[in-house]
Amino acid sequence: MEFNYTSMLAHLNIASAHPGGLSATKKAWEQLKKYQHHCILDAGCGTGKTLEFLTEVTNSRLIGIDQDQAMIKLAKQRLKGKPVELIQGKLQKLPFESGSIDCIISESVVSFNHVEPILSEYNRVLRPGGILLLIEMTGDQTLTQEMIKEVEQFYQIKSILSLDEWIESLEKGQFDLIDYFPLSATTDGDAELKITPDTNQIFLDYLNHHYHRIESFQKELIGYQFFCQKKMTEQTNDDSI
Ligand SMILES: C[S@@+](CC[C@H](N)C(=O)[O-])C[C@H]1O[C@@H](n2cnc3c(N)ncnc32)[C@H](O)[C@@H]1O
Repeated sequence: MEFNYTSMLAHLNIASAHPGGLSATKKAWEQLKKYQHHCILDAGCGTGKTLEFLTEVTNSRLIGIDQDQAMIKLAKQRLKGKPVELIQGKLQKLPFESGSIDCIISESVVSFNHVEPILSEYNRVLRPGGILLLIEMTGDQTLTQEMIKEVEQFYQIKSILSLDEWIESLEKGQFDLIDYFPLSATTDGDAELKITPDTNQIFLDYLNHHYHRIESFQKELIGYQFFCQKKMTEQTNDDSI
């Protein structure tokens, strides 16, 4: 059995494992719902809590994708009988046609990867004007190299970006930033998890370490929500007459 942050989330069936938790998702929906979405993709859907919420508030086509087999299994259990398509796959190579998705929700996923290829793939599958909601861990300027190393090792994440670096990456990735604001790095306190007599103590220790780290780095490590729109295709200005 693998012991890492993601396997801990799956083993304890933890839902809404992103800054701000489910309340941040619900709040974001108030903004998202103003746009027309035929198809919404939850990229790195984990155990499927956001998708479950979406089935309650929209009739859009809903798709969840995650590379982790255990996560997809748990999402399937949660969403049994609900109109959601679940796919095991990698965000680096999304199994969708270019321009076929209206909205991507990506909650605490991109940081676990090299940022640029993921944003580029999100941009490819979104239609021009499509919406990207990104919720990500963000490093404050006070985050030291030592802390970065510790956080990267513990979460096995590849990128702790500062606010400026996120904004720059989104611009490079051909997104217009509509709105962004900070979120608490923790979930919202009503985090859902399942502990049974079979629960491995190692994962409970892991969870305790996670809470401890979040608490001790609460000034240095925060969450941010970015609400972006894929740039419209560039207009060619033909000045010649
Ligand atoms: C911290 S969890 C967040 C899950 C969910 N978005 C939530 O808010 O509860 C990160 C998830 O992203 C998935 N993930 C990370 N990198 C991925 C990649 N390159 N392709 C597909 N899934 C990925 C992991 O398997 C994990 O389920």
